[in-house]
Amino acid sequence: MSENSRPLPPPPHPSGAQPPALPAELVPQHVAVVMDGNGRWANAQGLPRTEGHRVGEATLMDVVAGAVELGVKELSAYAFSTENWKRSPSEVRFIMGFTRTVLRQQRDDLNDWGVQVRWVGRTPRLWKSVLRELHTAEELTKNNTTMTLNMCINYGGRAEIADAARAMAMDVREGRLKAESITEKTLAKYLYSPTMRDVDLLIRTGGEQRTSNFLMWESAYAELYFSDIAWPDFDRRHLWKACQAYARRDRRFGGAKDAVIDQSE
Ligand code: IPE
Ligand code: IPE
Ligand code: MG
Repeated sequence: MSENSRPLPPPPHPSGAQPPALPAELVPQHVAVVMDGNGRWANAQGLPRTEGHRVGEATLMDVVAGAVELGVKELSAYAFSTENWKRSPSEVRFIMGFTRTVLRQQRDDLNDWGVQVRWVGRTPRLWKSVLRELHTAEELTKNNTTMTLNMCINYGGRAEIADAARAMAMDVREGRLKAESITEKTLAKYLYSPTMRDVDLLIRTGGEQRTSNFLMWESAYAELYFSDIAWPDFDRRHLWKACQAYARRDRRFGGAKDAVIDQSE
């Protein structure tokens, strides 16, 4: 998007489906998605696992569009974990190469929609060419305000907290930080993206019911939503369904309200 132009609305879903009318305060501000089930989806059709990753690109763009339409402010997509290096070299190579292509091909549309792309993850092992595309997308979209898209690539929740602890320890050693003044707020400032909101809704597709090291710190009070649908079959209508379920949840954050008022008090 150029300096003075307004963002374009993303194209509607091909079915013509519109986002549900949720009161703004019940729309999750930050949705995190574990995009899982690509490999099993492909294998079930006699295709190599990588075909699932390929089809998953369209799902991501559709979900981004649906999140913008609903008024979500931040979307975090788990694209490659620090544990995914355990996969076969050919699958890792495919994912890295494909991620680079997706970033190059989709950054202009994301920019037109007013989406700000941010990379969340760690540098070691990550392909330099992927990093370059991430930085190009970040630079192109840095002034956009419609929604932030955190691309979590070479990301691990434990690694993020360990990296933050190391950086804090170094600042203590250099005299820039007092050990006794470290609080939760201090640690949050040392995370990969200090401006990231807490996750309101964490969705995992593909049938597994675990978070697999995704945004551990940021999801401490996230509502969890598990879908059996594999990522390549998921679309913005499923995202909206998850958001409707979220709107019905009772978030207490450790507090409690007595439903029976004790008159003697
Ligand atoms: C998620 O799908 C994508 C990545 C982890 C890169 P998977 O590749 O994990 O697919 P399944 O879970 O094996 O079906
Ligand atoms: C989580 O999925 C990581 C991503 C979606 C990028 P995995 O498929 O790697 O998780 P596990 O191995 O089932 O826990
Ligand atoms: Mg998986």
